[in-house]
Amino acid sequence: EGPIPFHGARQAALTSPQLPATKLLAFDLPATSAAADREALRTLLAAWTRTLAASAGPAPDPRLRTEDGAPRLTSLVGLGPALAARLALAVPAGFADLPAFPGDRLDPARGGGDLLLQLCAADHWTLAVVAELATTAAHGAGATPRWAQSGFLPRTAPGATPRNLFGFKDGTANPDEDLARQWVWGPAGPHENATVLVYRRIRMDTVAFAALPEEQQNLAMGRRIGDGAPLTGTAEHDEPDLYAKHPDGAYVIPTTAHVRLTGPRLDGGARMLRRGYSYDDAPGDRGLLFCAFMRDPGQFTRVQNRLAERDALNPFLEHTASAVAYVLPGAPEGAALGDHLWA
Ligand code: HEM
Repeated sequence: EGPIPFHGARQAALTSPQLPATKLLAFDLPATSAAADREALRTLLAAWTRTLAASAGPAPDPRLRTEDGAPRLTSLVGLGPALAARLALAVPAGFADLPAFPGDRLDPARGGGDLLLQLCAADHWTLAVVAELATTAAHGAGATPRWAQSGFLPRTAPGATPRNLFGFKDGTANPDEDLARQWVWGPAGPHENATVLVYRRIRMDTVAFAALPEEQQNLAMGRRIGDGAPLTGTAEHDEPDLYAKHPDGAYVIPTTAHVRLTGPRLDGGARMLRRGYSYDDAPGDRGLLFCAFMRDPGQFTRVQNRLAERDALNPFLEHTASAVAYVLPGAPEGAALGDHLWA
């Protein structure tokens, strides 16, 4: 407990345990000339580095000061595919917008964007103040706000997995550091400490799902709502056994279960790092801010195509916004975010 350093090899919103409140902010950088746009981006990233480091450091804005000096705050900054293409930035191979998926009901005003900033903190006060400072810095470099989205997690014991608004533990099967090096972080080279964020705002019919008998909820997920254990196991972190069958020949984890369709076995072992948040914006508009990090957004596309076809959760879900971002490597002490782009 105490302030979380901004500087490091990787951006802090990815390396520290999930803080309970988040705000995502997207901005557009109006197009002028390629040279001027590159300069604007460089100015903006330098300004955000200063703002975010100061907000997490010993002498933040007076509104952020705490007994520990600075509030617990983490952040990450990413670049959208259109901006990367326009400025011919050296982003990872395969970094591109997602295709359309069956069932998508995407609102363009709530998704996309040239720049994406995720702030995470212990409370919404901190987020509101830092969002204001970051927005002012973005304005200074000519960027304009596009959308913003707040989210939250339930109070959860340290090390325990938070639940989503269906009531299930969400984030259990995340990769460890060895697997993440292969599937989440870039290959050795300039993208080694970079990754790609896939963001989906997914509305959930929590009322209809809660009305299902618990047995049906468990079959839809392939895990038990109480302890998060797979239907083939007894503890949360037991590996789901996708081959186990009942005496009548039916799979214990049904063919439409979310955990079967998303499992790495169907995808050559590919893994993504999920750090989602819940949202509650209006009556009937609550759900999951799906935030997943991976080396290649194709990993998401393959899984989402399978889900769109037959996920048992589908009757309760609607994807309402989408964004992808190249998440920059962290800025070491003395450096600015994105310095490698100009080398
Ligand atoms: C696993 C919920 C959407 C990918 C899980 C689990 C839950 C869950 C409860 C099991 C516990 C865990 O390992 O975290 C949800 C809900 C969704 C949603 C409520 C929609 C609102 C998605 C989407 C994707 C996805 C859109 C990707 C396209 C995964 C993956 C796993 C997973 C990769 C881990 C599978 C494994 O390795 O066993 N999800 N999920 N989920 N979900 Fe989702």
